[in-house]
Amino acid sequence: MLLQVKDVTKIYKRAGLEFKAVDSADFVVDSSEFAIINGQSGSGKSTLLAIIAGLLFPESGKVFFEDVDITQLNDRQLSRLRNEKIGFIPQGHCLLDNFTVIDNVCLPYYLKKLNGDPYKVAIQLLERIGIAHLANQYPVQLSGGELRRAAIARGLINSPKLIIADEPTSDLDPINSANIMTLFEEIARSGSAVLVVTHEFQKPIGCNKHLTMENGRIRNKI
Ligand SMILES: Nc1ncnc2c1ncn2[C@@H]1O[C@H](COP(=O)(O)OP(=O)(O)O)[C@@H](O)[C@H]1O
Ligand SMILES: [Mg+2]
Repeated sequence: MLLQVKDVTKIYKRAGLEFKAVDSADFVVDSSEFAIINGQSGSGKSTLLAIIAGLLFPESGKVFFEDVDITQLNDRQLSRLRNEKIGFIPQGHCLLDNFTVIDNVCLPYYLKKLNGDPYKVAIQLLERIGIAHLANQYPVQLSGGELRRAAIARGLINSPKLIIADEPTSDLDPINSANIMTLFEEIARSGSAVLVVTHEFQKPIGCNKHLTMENGRIRNKI
């Protein structure tokens, strides 16, 4: 099993009151699977993804990646795992403003400290998502939807085993949204696992696991 989320609970405090932002989440995503979690704003999706990416620690529960409990890893081990095996596409603007689009996309590759030239792969990815013409622009010159697509390319540059994407289509028009979902579908078919969380309640096409999240709780739809 590639990813196993086991009885994960995350507690936040608001106005002195505790509540479960993630409540006993329990599900798996295996290689070649394309999973979508639908849930309204505030249902706990981003918190859950941050836990899976090892950026937040749960109060209880475990997250296994390739049978290793990532909640037990130190910072260094987590950074390495994220860089090499997990492509995290966060919600919102997450590019470095003083790097060009292509350099932002290549950055995870350089951090991996491998020899080789990621430019060709980066350009191919940018072409695939329709922003190759913006390769040498800076983030400030891009629209919200273009920034989103550049962040997606950056998440894919190291061919991660698991892609986790937080509202990846939220700034996109229907055609570009469909293109990104088709790309995720292809990536899953070629052997990686894809986990998308979104508040968009469109009938997910191409995913083979459909879950919902409500008040921190995950339910199986299929
Ligand atoms: N750092 C925080 N401290 C307290 N409450 C938080 C924090 N982050 C998020 N929340 C709350 O936790 C709930 C889940 O948030 P989030 O995971 O961002 O939901 P979603 O991504 O589904 O919109 C929301 O009610 C949000 O207000
Ligand atoms: Mg969110």
